[in-house]
Amino acid sequence: MSQKIQTLSGYINEYQRSVHQPEKFWGRIAQSFHWQKPWDNVLSWDFKGPDIKWFENAKLNLTENIFERHLFTHGEKAAIIWEPNDPKEAHRIISYRELFEMTCQFSNALEAQGVEKGDRVIIYMPMIPEAAVAMLACARIGAVHSVVFAGFSSSALADRINDCEAKIVLTSDGNFRGSKNIPVKEVVDEALEKTSTVEKVIVCKRTNSEVTMKSTRDVWWHDVIKGQSIDHKAVTLDAEDLLFILYTSGSTGKPKGVVHTTGGYMVYTQYSFLNVFQYEQDDVYWCTADIGWITGHSYIVYGPLLAGATTLMFEGVPTYPHAGRFWEIIDKYKVNQFYTAPTAIRALQAKGLEPIAPYSLDSLKVIGSVGEPINEEAWHWYHDHIGKGNCPLVDTWWQTETGGIMISPLAGITPNKPAHASLPLPGIQPVIVDAEGNELKGNNVEGNLCIKFPWPSILRTTYGDHKRFKETYFSTYPGMYFTGDGAKRDHDGYLRILGRVDDVINVSGHRMGTAEVENAINEHPRVIESAVVGYPHDIKGQGIYAYAICDREGVSDQVLIEEIKGTVRKIIGPIAKPDEVQIVNGLPKTRSGKIMRRILRKVASKDISNLGDTSTLLNPEVIAEIIDGSPSD
Ligand code: WT7
Repeated sequence: MSQKIQTLSGYINEYQRSVHQPEKFWGRIAQSFHWQKPWDNVLSWDFKGPDIKWFENAKLNLTENIFERHLFTHGEKAAIIWEPNDPKEAHRIISYRELFEMTCQFSNALEAQGVEKGDRVIIYMPMIPEAAVAMLACARIGAVHSVVFAGFSSSALADRINDCEAKIVLTSDGNFRGSKNIPVKEVVDEALEKTSTVEKVIVCKRTNSEVTMKSTRDVWWHDVIKGQSIDHKAVTLDAEDLLFILYTSGSTGKPKGVVHTTGGYMVYTQYSFLNVFQYEQDDVYWCTADIGWITGHSYIVYGPLLAGATTLMFEGVPTYPHAGRFWEIIDKYKVNQFYTAPTAIRALQAKGLEPIAPYSLDSLKVIGSVGEPINEEAWHWYHDHIGKGNCPLVDTWWQTETGGIMISPLAGITPNKPAHASLPLPGIQPVIVDAEGNELKGNNVEGNLCIKFPWPSILRTTYGDHKRFKETYFSTYPGMYFTGDGAKRDHDGYLRILGRVDDVINVSGHRMGTAEVENAINEHPRVIESAVVGYPHDIKGQGIYAYAICDREGVSDQVLIEEIKGTVRKIIGPIAKPDEVQIVNGLPKTRSGKIMRRILRKVASKDISNLGDTSTLLNPEVIAEIIDGSPSD
């Protein structure tokens, strides 16, 4: 617990130290972990290569730092509290000792199935403790997990399997989400028709739904663990060995596999978890994310478990079976730290205060927000009605690529400012730059957000494509990591994140590349060309607006629109389905053939009073037609 900052002056001192002597700073933090062999070098880096190594040549196993490091002191403490989708079903409380045994047993099972250090394992599972066990077992044996959100379609799953050449897929017989039972095993079966590397599928029983098991390939989870020992000697890994790959959308092409490695990620997730949430030993902490996203990786599984915390895992959705479900769970388990997304806050805010009334929420000490900018209205509602005006609200800015929280208040220590992520964590050196990459120093400045010095959990590459890694993050402003976000430093020096400045849309806290959605739309046989933009959406933050040029002969626009939405749903998944589709005859293009998205964004946002300079357009006449929404044939 010595890693925890206690006061504002403590934060300031710690921050100064972390900037002036980063290696000494992180070396000291890392000392509280269990390393099988210490590092030769805390950090070696070059943002041009780029090549980043933390704790060079150190040997460790991350799970020894979750289990062996803590078992003597809190083996009986609850590691995971699991709340099922249906509140009538029994919950589960799993102690550190039990979680250790489950992890060891499944590690042995994976090895018996032929999984070796370095092999890639796809996890396509519901929010059940076994999903966390699967991740931990991979970490224990040195296999590289890639969790795929179980709402992605079979083709999105197949793309990920193919990209990382996975050897094994872990899934379940079904997935309860609200009133639905999603047939995830069927999705896996369909995906595997388009892949050739997967040797085994391990199926965990959850819903007792009937599934077809392919005899040479599919095995039951309960069968493979049968007879396996609950002891397992952790495999020795290098600090820079891969821990996991997590796919995320970018502004171009297919999702990329963000690579995180073992040592630095371990150090940073524990450190940031303890400091941002100010977790205390008997607290119950709850993050509502899904393990399919980085938030679930770093702040449901790794950060809390490394810190020896009790982490609550919820299988269901915020509104099932009623709109007070989150608040009911907080009271049921006396949750102390609650961490969710602005989109959930806005959706629950829309239900009014009635669903909150039956619950006291008085166990809450800290509330948190993540995934997208939180608007002031939602910030105040969350602060006043959930935090009852006396819980610090941590607005945490970070990314899949950063591995952990980068800019955020430390609960109760650094001041709260509505809608501001506020100040960087120790070790994080954010800079705001202008279009040419000049650093804008001082306050009252706005520009693009970069980070100029490495931190332990920075991504190391994009899987199988180091060139893309360099181009995406280190080429826009050479010598700096470019986040893709705009930011403002206000007159007091607090940072406010303004949202993406690239072709990425943030829908309900999920990242979608416009190009990815366009590619999916273009799969529809009648679509000739499409363009996708984001627009402000009351609940989702941003909605997806698609313009499509189609062959309209003999079919109504309404039918086309529904089919296009269905195509995207099928190719990527429900989260990428456009909110609006407009069939058009042309798209505004410059003479060089580039779509002028600025105009499309304005039309989608119903902000057409000033469209800016359109003199470089090849076909200005399409604008009026698009605004009209009823193009003439
Ligand atoms: C993008 C990263 C970090 C885990 C969840 C999303 C946006 C994230 C905030 C925040 C404003 C935020 C950024 C960022 N974002 N948190 N507190 N305030 N914007 O991870 O899918 O990798 O998306 O989410 O635009 O670049 P992700």
